[in-house]
Amino acid sequence: CGIVGYIGDKNAVPVLMDGLKKLEYRGYDSAGVAVYAEGKVEIRKYKGRLSVLEEHLDKEKLSGNLAIGHTRWATHGEPSDANSHPHTNEKGDIAVVHNGIIENYLKIKDFLISKGYVFKSEVDTEVLAHFIDYYYEGDLAEAVRKVIKKIKGSYAFAVITNREPDKIVCVRKENPLIVGIGEGENYIASDIPAILKHTRKTYLMGENELAVITKCDIRFYSENGEPVKKEVFNVDWDVSAAEKGGYRHFMLKEIHEQPKAIKDTMTGRIAKDSDAIRLDDIKLTAEDLARFGKIFIVACGTAYHAGLAGKYLIEHLAKIPVEVDVASEFRYRNPLVDEKTLVIIISQSGETLDTFAALKEAKGKGARILSVVNVVGSSIARESHDVLYTWAGPEIAVASTKAYTTQIIALYEIALHMADLKGTLSKEAIKAIKDEMLNLPAKIEKALGNKEEIQKFASKNSGEKDVFFIGRGLDYAVALEGSLKLKEISYIHSDAYAAGELKHGPIALIEEGTVVIALMAQHELYEKMLSNVKEVKARGAYVFAIAKEGNREVETIADQTLYIPEVSDMLSPTVTVIPLQLLAYYMAVEKGCDVDMPRNLAKSVTVE
Ligand code: G6P
Repeated sequence: CGIVGYIGDKNAVPVLMDGLKKLEYRGYDSAGVAVYAEGKVEIRKYKGRLSVLEEHLDKEKLSGNLAIGHTRWATHGEPSDANSHPHTNEKGDIAVVHNGIIENYLKIKDFLISKGYVFKSEVDTEVLAHFIDYYYEGDLAEAVRKVIKKIKGSYAFAVITNREPDKIVCVRKENPLIVGIGEGENYIASDIPAILKHTRKTYLMGENELAVITKCDIRFYSENGEPVKKEVFNVDWDVSAAEKGGYRHFMLKEIHEQPKAIKDTMTGRIAKDSDAIRLDDIKLTAEDLARFGKIFIVACGTAYHAGLAGKYLIEHLAKIPVEVDVASEFRYRNPLVDEKTLVIIISQSGETLDTFAALKEAKGKGARILSVVNVVGSSIARESHDVLYTWAGPEIAVASTKAYTTQIIALYEIALHMADLKGTLSKEAIKAIKDEMLNLPAKIEKALGNKEEIQKFASKNSGEKDVFFIGRGLDYAVALEGSLKLKEISYIHSDAYAAGELKHGPIALIEEGTVVIALMAQHELYEKMLSNVKEVKARGAYVFAIAKEGNREVETIADQTLYIPEVSDMLSPTVTVIPLQLLAYYMAVEKGCDVDMPRNLAKSVTVE
């Protein structure tokens, strides 16, 4: 979900609508605003995309200088007008927008019902409005403080009331919330792009902090009410970086941003003229590394797939055993983690709840936490001992692309840094890998120029029901990501298999015309892959092979072949994934799908 708020002299409604549009990627099944106008808190909220709310607001004009808004991704209660935010108390004079989950809301709801409160919706957020009303004794911030002492869960929420129409009160715990600093006006938002048009000066709210925001003043307090001093965080992204910039979809724009994004990930860390890898942000020492018997990589979705590649890289270069886990599994399987464990957490948003909870679980057991994160100042970044930012810039499309490739670059940096500290690679070997990494942006650029075969494939195969991806080694890790991209945005069922595993089951699914995408970018495994391609061809598959320039023999076997620029086996994932991202994109476009906001998904999943 996404939250925006405004207080100042302008009409808050257009400011909110603009901000909510920038936050739609956080959830988009319903949207609403609460506006303080003419002595009353007016609510407008509707099921559906933001455009539905916009149409209503065009017809029934609303204006006021204090407002909060919300774009929702349903958790408690289906998407409906009633379940949309803002939620109010019975009188309708306290309005709340909320992101996250109040775990003990049923208990509180029972208590409030016993006190005579009447509920209108099924959602947990509604208890907040009534509960604040229950505690209200003339001071909104004080009432909110009492409420947060009683509620359990993860949340960021903002409240306004006509009883004190000069302020917004907001709090955050395990969900993002920032404050934008204006002149004679101030803003709140779940994320920076929502307010970038108005200000670059922000405060990043800390865990369990409460803020009281008026037109000319912003104050922060701890849970217990002690004042907290904060530093201004100046945002140095340019506004256009958060917008579509000429491309039809954010996803396509972000796919094309990858050469620049990975260059940024390397900036200051890997340079031609110096031998060392400079990871000033990471305080790992050789002694630390000698202590770690094992590394876990923990993440969700695409970040998990980057982690799978990371395992190969760290084991291969730094010779430390690595286990990769999906965060939602890691948390509940009582993993063998202690002070001798390094846990690498990967997350684009830095806010994914499962990942954050896994981090806390591991940290609680004494593990050292190193995170690879894109969003600066996010919850995961702040809870980690060390953070290596990916510097990919804002990623808006739900399907992750540039976050993935930059995460992989960050993992090379970590693996090389570890190899350097441990002495598992010679200086020359490290330099050779570094030099090749510096050429990756140009190779990706070249791979991006090669769309014709992919568009041809998409126009022929977009009607398919099932698509198979196969690969070996690092290609298998990339195949998993290619398969996820395809299913996320084109709704075509797909699976990725380790090619050597086909014969142990999945090959039973291959029949005349079954589409198989074969990744053949690993020189060492190329011959083995050729045999696997022959196996599926013999059973009638339609094979689209992705191979490196120069490996022409595959053309005689596959139905269609796409060549990617030559790159060493170990450095191939960031190049190999490009045609797979484009393939998912063009398949989705052919099918007329909503590429940037696929159904049932959200960019940042802050619920369990
Ligand atoms: C969601 C997104 C995925 C993303 C995953 C992890 O499911 O739809 O694209 O890979 O969360 O997100 P994170 O921000 O932690 O990398």
